[in-house]
Amino acid sequence: MKESRLRRVKPTILKIGGSVITDKSKELQVRMQTINRLAEEIHKASTKNLIIVHGGGSFGHPLAQRYSIVEGFKEDKQKTGFSETHHVMTVLNGLFMDALIWHNIPAVSITPSSCIVTKNGRIQCFEDAPLKILLKMAFLPVLYGDAVLDSKLGFTIISGDQLVSILAIKFNAERIIIGVDVDGLYDEDPKAEKSAKMFKYLTLEKLKKLHSKLDKPTTYDVTGGMFGKVAELLPVIEHGIPVTIVNATKPNYIYKALEGRKVKSTLIGKE
Ligand SMILES: Nc1ncnc2c1ncn2[C@@H]1O[C@H](COP(=O)(O)OP(=O)(O)OP(=O)(O)O)[C@@H](O)[C@H]1O
Ligand SMILES: [Mg+2]
Repeated sequence: MKESRLRRVKPTILKIGGSVITDKSKELQVRMQTINRLAEEIHKASTKNLIIVHGGGSFGHPLAQRYSIVEGFKEDKQKTGFSETHHVMTVLNGLFMDALIWHNIPAVSITPSSCIVTKNGRIQCFEDAPLKILLKMAFLPVLYGDAVLDSKLGFTIISGDQLVSILAIKFNAERIIIGVDVDGLYDEDPKAEKSAKMFKYLTLEKLKKLHSKLDKPTTYDVTGGMFGKVAELLPVIEHGIPVTIVNATKPNYIYKALEGRKVKSTLIGKE
């Protein structure tokens, strides 16, 4: 397929958070019912040119933290930690793929550690030929946050959020939908502060201000939680790609967001 034709394809990027498909308070706790419900919603919506990215939740994050994978290679015992972190992500991805395929969705998994090398944690090369052909053939490509090789650090972690941002810009996405376990983006963590106020709409300027006030989580998320997510979203908003943050733990919210229907969420736009 010629590049010019590819550029006309405007995909939707859907991120399903690890906070949704796993219980982040307990190691290796998958939420299979939620995964199955989401597969049903994705099937029902049958969105054209969809790319899915899912997060690590209680599979990737605890292991990555135990072996300090984000920081890179420093000692030999981290190597089995790297293998384990990548391996548990393939297990979570397998469970996710199982549900999609059982719902008759032609989903194909793309393993980030096999096609991406980062440099100091940022994507340096990305062999995207298979992804392009999958899109052209109307498959549903599925990627995920992963332990990857890094040309400076030896290895590191690439977040699903960085993948979302890179894919959206690379493929000139129509929109991004981010499913998390809260109703949207708030002025502070709604799980920590009952009085936190949710935003219905945010501009780039307001998002930048909010980002400077957000706290970095110290334990449950090695890629910066909501702080890291917003950091990755800034360039895509700058690019003019709108982002919807929606609660994927609530039935039909992802379905409605995919359908472009009204649903409680935070919409972020350039202006
Ligand atoms: N200002 C905020 N607005 C909304 N949520 C926030 C805010 N600050 C912190 N959070 C927390 O961010 C969490 C979602 O981000 P987190 O990175 O934990 O999930 P995720 O990205 O779905 O998981 P993963 O990284 O495994 O994919 C919510 O559970 C919420 O408690
Ligand atoms: Mg996260």
